[in-house]
Parts: sequence; C-alpha cells; structure tokens
Amino acid sequence: MYSDEQWIEWFDRLAEDDHVVVDDFLSGDLYRQIMAFFSNAEKSDRLKKAGIGASGEFQIKSSVRGDFIYWLDEERDVEISGFFDLKNELIEKLRRFCFLSLSGSEFHIAKYPEGSHYDRHLDQFNERSNRQITVLIYLNENWKKGDGGELVIYKEQEEILVEPVARRLLLFKSDVIEHEVLKTNVSRYSLTGWLLHKPESVGYIL
Ligand code: OGA
Ligand code: NI
Repeated sequence: MYSDEQWIEWFDRLAEDDHVVVDDFLSGDLYRQIMAFFSNAEKSDRLKKAGIGASGEFQIKSSVRGDFIYWLDEERDVEISGFFDLKNELIEKLRRFCFLSLSGSEFHIAKYPEGSHYDRHLDQFNERSNRQITVLIYLNENWKKGDGGELVIYKEQEEILVEPVARRLLLFKSDVIEHEVLKTNVSRYSLTGWLLHKPESVGYIL
C-alpha cells in the first residue's frame, strides 16, 4: 500500500529514535471499517477488562491499567481484512529492510473509558519477552487538547507526548521504550499490537 521508499523513511526514523509517528497512516475507508468493527464489538459486549502479566501471573488491576480489549483474529475478523493486509505489509517490509526475524504478531482493539489510564511500563514482561515492535493505531476522530489520554514516551532526557488522533500510527521498540497512557477525559479508542520474534505459544498477555 506504501512505496518501499516510504517504508524505509519510517524505518530509518524508528532505528534512529527507537520510535516513529506517522500521521494519516490509515485511509479514511480503512478507518471507517475499523470503527464499524469496533462499535459492533462494543455493542455485542466483546470488550473485556485488560489485565497485566503473562499467563501464570495474570492480574486485573484498574489502578495500573483501565482499558477494555478484544483480541483480533485474522481468519475470523474478515470485516477488517484491510487492516490485516496493511499489518502483513508492515511485517514483510520490516523483514526485508530491517532484517528482523519476526515470527508472528498479536493485536487487539482497546477502549479506555473516561477516567482511565495505563501506568508507566515496558511492553515486555520478565517471563515473556518476545515482543519486539509495538504498533499503535489511534482512532479518535475529534480528539482535542484537554481530552487527555496522550501517550508519554520516556527517553533518557525527554518525555515525548503523542496525541491519540485518528489514523495516526506509532511504532516503537518494545524492549527499550517505557511509556504511559495519561488519564483520558473521554472514551479513547485504539488498535494495538506487537510484532513477535518468537512463537506465540509462550502465551498471551490479556
Ligand atoms: C499498551 C499500551 C498505549 C496506548 O497497551 O501496552 O501501552 O497508547 N498502550 O494505547
Ligand atoms: Ni504498553
């Protein structure tokens, strides 16, 4: 969907800064498809409270993380096949241009209800460290200052604020970037995933 030159430019920024923000990454059509899917998932009560820790140490703690998620399945969720095509293109280009040995991925949609947040953390857990690249796609059409729910990226000397505006992509290196979701004052929607460098059989983090 994007030219090799375009992918390479984004990957250069990712390599240099450990993260990259791409505005207008989703087309309007794909954005609407994802939002329709999201709203069906919400109406049919498929979003579940997210927890922290991998299988054995799984816990639900709203004081740490307040979002509701629904894990996606490429075979089942054909309504958003356009998203999976784009995700597969991303993986293919990362393999080709960054020589990453990616073996799979896992994605969920996430809703942070008004008043919720996610404390500062790293997307790798001690017992399961195969998340290599974090992929965030923000879905908040009319997001404005004061709505909250910004993502804070912590670097040695700086804190970078990423506003969760619709159709924006954020990629970062899961093993080095500590980050936090600030309290949101409105419902906050995103599509979140991880590109993995080991088989998924080591267990899901729900
Ligand atoms: C996560 C996470 C950030 C965001 O799900 O691990 O950090 O901006 N999400 O939604
Ligand atoms: Ni995270």
